[in-house]
Amino acid sequence: MNTTKPQSIKTNPFLPEPARIVRTYDLTDDVRFFQVRIADMEKALSFRNRPGQFVMISVLGAGEAPFSISSTPSRPGLLEFCIRKTGIVTDALFRIKENDLIGLRGPYGNGFPVDNMVDKDILIVMGGLGAAPLRSVLLYCLDNRDQFGRIILLHGAKRPAEMIFRDEFLSMKERDDLECYLSVDEDDSGQWTDNIGVVTTLFPKLESIDPANTYALVCGPPIMYKFVLKELVNLHIPKDQILMTLERRMKCGVGKCGHCAIDYIYTCLDGPVFTYWDVLHMRELI
Ligand SMILES: Cc1cc2nc3c(=O)[nH]c(=O)nc-3n(C[C@H](O)[C@H](O)[C@H](O)COP(=O)(O)OP(=O)(O)OC[C@H]3O[C@@H](n4cnc5c(N)ncnc54)[C@H](O)[C@@H]3O)c2cc1C
Ligand code: FES
Repeated sequence: MNTTKPQSIKTNPFLPEPARIVRTYDLTDDVRFFQVRIADMEKALSFRNRPGQFVMISVLGAGEAPFSISSTPSRPGLLEFCIRKTGIVTDALFRIKENDLIGLRGPYGNGFPVDNMVDKDILIVMGGLGAAPLRSVLLYCLDNRDQFGRIILLHGAKRPAEMIFRDEFLSMKERDDLECYLSVDEDDSGQWTDNIGVVTTLFPKLESIDPANTYALVCGPPIMYKFVLKELVNLHIPKDQILMTLERRMKCGVGKCGHCAIDYIYTCLDGPVFTYWDVLHMRELI
């Protein structure tokens, strides 16, 4: 039997690559960590992405959806995701077991301009599931520590049990090459010894910022942007150095279907990372 695929299938940009679930564990009640390896080892090792990019993940019979890559391209071979159970595809992903196959295509989107960020101070502000794309750029900067100035992390969650990657970030507080500040809105555990209050209550703790030399990276729930952006503008960080990653409903991920379009901008191609300057000049971006 001839098993050679027709040319149209070989070049089909929507054809997913089979990928195997290597490890999963729960990060919170409704968010799960997935470690995935592309089944073809050569393709797994040659897969390259920029922090902040996303892939389309598919489950047979359920469909596909976009998810940010949470791992850093500086550690190739395995891809990591944190995924909230919210609908059809994510329900199916939560039923999947280690060693099962999923489909994966990408990477897509622009990602963070890490080359422009070299020699700059990096201020990362994340809330809730915003940790998914920002963990990638944080780990990238830490793996390439000599390329960046100060690295500052502000991470907020509603409660300690809802802090995604809580143990990883708590252990990062021990590092002397990272200024790591964590906060929860409220503590129902009685064991939280860090800051209590919304993520913006961490800003007064920062040692003075050199705004012209700083890139601020933000991702979190929609309500967070309004207050965090106000703080960043008060610090005089230039609007084109304030970067945020935004979500829009996406179908194709490659600029064909128009589902993610805002003002003729396709967020799957020109985003999901936008500067505050972009946001001020586009309707309804946040
Ligand atoms: C670039 C990008 C990166 C992302 N990264 C992550 C990530 O790292 N982790 C993560 O957990 N999620 C991430 N998301 C979000 C994720 O892709 C969506 O939540 C996706 O819809 C989940 O698919 P689903 O089939 O499970 O949910 P769906 O069945 O699509 O439902 C999700 C929610 O959307 C509502 N909904 C369904 N259809 C519509 C519609 N037409 N209009 C409005 N609302 C609708 C549903 O009621 C439900 O509340 C990302 C999205 C983008 C665009
Ligand atoms: S998701 Fe189809 S054009 Fe962007």
